[in-house]
Amino acid sequence: MIRVKTLQQTPNKFTVSAPSNIAFVKYWGKYGRQLPINPSVSMTLKNCVTMCEISYTTSDNLSGFELERYEFMGEENPKFYERFNNYLVSILDVLPGLSKFKISISSTNTFPHSAGIASSASAFSALAYGVACLASDFEKDSKEFLDQCSELARLGSGSAARSILGPYMQWGEDPFIENSTNNCARIVQEVHPEFLELKDTILLVDKKEKSVSSSAGHSLMHGHPFKENRIVQARENTRNILQAIKAGDWNLFGEILENEALTLHALMMSSYPSFILLKPNSLEIIERVKAFRVRTNISLYFTIDAGPNIHLIYKNEDAGVIEKFVKDDLAQLCHEGSYIIDEIGIGAGVVDGK
Ligand code: PMV
Repeated sequence: MIRVKTLQQTPNKFTVSAPSNIAFVKYWGKYGRQLPINPSVSMTLKNCVTMCEISYTTSDNLSGFELERYEFMGEENPKFYERFNNYLVSILDVLPGLSKFKISISSTNTFPHSAGIASSASAFSALAYGVACLASDFEKDSKEFLDQCSELARLGSGSAARSILGPYMQWGEDPFIENSTNNCARIVQEVHPEFLELKDTILLVDKKEKSVSSSAGHSLMHGHPFKENRIVQARENTRNILQAIKAGDWNLFGEILENEALTLHALMMSSYPSFILLKPNSLEIIERVKAFRVRTNISLYFTIDAGPNIHLIYKNEDAGVIEKFVKDDLAQLCHEGSYIIDEIGIGAGVVDGK
């Protein structure tokens, strides 16, 4: 409640920026209210962000929450209005203070929508952080506040839970990981100095909308013949990649990273119905990345989200040679030669208006 009073003294408009994230250990399969069947680990990005401007009015007399207007990239968007309105109404039990607000949202992305980059992660984390600034009972940026933001973001899109903070986030309960919970993602505390300056170059193999929504994909894990083994594997990979990030073990890190990417796609290919999201050029890029690694002995590894695009993960100190390789050898395999160079980031925050 203290928070509401503070904001009433400021202009009734502010902007939140929140990034996308790339999973190293993949969340695939959910139950209940967007809870993950297995733990995951991700790196928060820096340049692929959603900027969400929230205008609001508040009064104790307001009968209930209202989303007055939703604009995406400067235009009203009825499809997104419905999705975000349903979401905001659905979180009123978690954030009851929001029912005193009428808000309008104007949202923009710094990266192409549906380019296979997790736009729902940045969109929901920006919105969750924004409405928490308006209506949370917790002090802004306290541990409780950030947990609540992550929980709220999770309710919009599971992976969005991991975009609130950075540089690395872990989400999902595991008995061997201290402080882990299905409810929200938390910062990975122990990071080797060599893991503080990672880059992620996203090779846009195909920019079309995904042929399977992640919700449909998650539900295919129920009854999947490999479900139980997948949960065991994801737990092991989570523990081991956290160990690799802590110890600065690039070989272990890369092995798990690529194993997770290929496992995600193997799970899609072996579900009923099956999905093949990789394209011939995705496979060609993977081959070339592996050959580059053998040839140069440079730690360059790939990961893949639920789509055909390939994320290249590497150290900043190797950026020169790797980005030349991307430009000379890999860009020709991308849609119109397009790729995005991103790097490790720290999460969501208010950028303007207070
Ligand atoms: O957040 P969702 O429901 O769109 O699921 C995303 C799942 C993956 O991106 C494929 C993996 C992950 O952990 O981000």
